[in-house]
Amino acid sequence: MGAPKPTPEEMELLKGQDVLSARDLSFEQLQLIMKTAAYYEDALVNKRRLYDMDGKIMASLFFEPSTRTRLSFEAAMQRLGGNVITVSETPQMQISSTAKGETLYDAIKVIDGYVDVIVVRSPIKGAAQEAADAADHPVINAGDGTGQHPTQALLDIYTIIKEHGRVEGMKVALLGDLKYGRTVHSLVYLLKHYGCDMIFVSPPQLKMPEEITAELREEGIKVEETDDLKAAVAEADILYVTRIQRERFPSQEEYESVKDSYIVNDQVVAVAKKGMSILHPLPRVNEIAVSVDSYTGAAYFRQAHNGVPIRMALLALTTGNVR
Ligand code: CP
Repeated sequence: MGAPKPTPEEMELLKGQDVLSARDLSFEQLQLIMKTAAYYEDALVNKRRLYDMDGKIMASLFFEPSTRTRLSFEAAMQRLGGNVITVSETPQMQISSTAKGETLYDAIKVIDGYVDVIVVRSPIKGAAQEAADAADHPVINAGDGTGQHPTQALLDIYTIIKEHGRVEGMKVALLGDLKYGRTVHSLVYLLKHYGCDMIFVSPPQLKMPEEITAELREEGIKVEETDDLKAAVAEADILYVTRIQRERFPSQEEYESVKDSYIVNDQVVAVAKKGMSILHPLPRVNEIAVSVDSYTGAAYFRQAHNGVPIRMALLALTTGNVR
């Protein structure tokens, strides 16, 4: 008896929908995505060949570097029996007609006629919304600048469920670049549904945007802010580490002033509660020492692998193709 398939009524919750921001997802939609990901993971583990997206095409449009998100989306589509067309470029190396000055809106208007679902990453906050405005097919935000990264947050929640069996009641410390970090901007909106206490750990220059912290507090979520990593680790059930992102800073000087602010090493892990998990959306630079990889709770590589079933669930649910 494998993981259950969502019911036809449940599947209606995401059919035809865009996935642009974690803030927009209801708890019912979140639970549906978790259930569907578990269903697909069961199929993957048992090597069941899937044809749910047979004959469908996904546009994989990445205007910013990516390893995990692009490749796990493309793997997810192929695991579902579907096909993929790709643009993978950066502002420094454009190969699509963006180089000729075509707007994202116009490009999506055209690509929407070629495919059944669109996955888009851009360095510009709000780009996924612009794509959704142009498209009739579902658009999934694979990261828009300093804005949102909802599919990362969904796989983060899935990872916590797999590692701990629950999310409710967890105390989560979020560490690093909370100002520009789209992964944490998304994750807090999903943790909120489970009533998790949160500790924000950052240098003062990289604090979580005030409007997000205020919104969480207004909704009754307990949020602490500190720059004391060891004190936070001593209390946390989950430590969510993020990279200080050089590419987001207005100047090299500002980046240099905060880079290497925190490094999670064996001395930090030594003060952790028993069973604490360490998550990281990756890529890692040097904010987690390589020696920490052998710690049982170091879940970040398992976390990255969870991107495939989560993205299978999103592709099949938004297009109404869970079969
Ligand atoms: N976590 C994440 O978004 O990784 P990539 O930038 O490699 O996609």
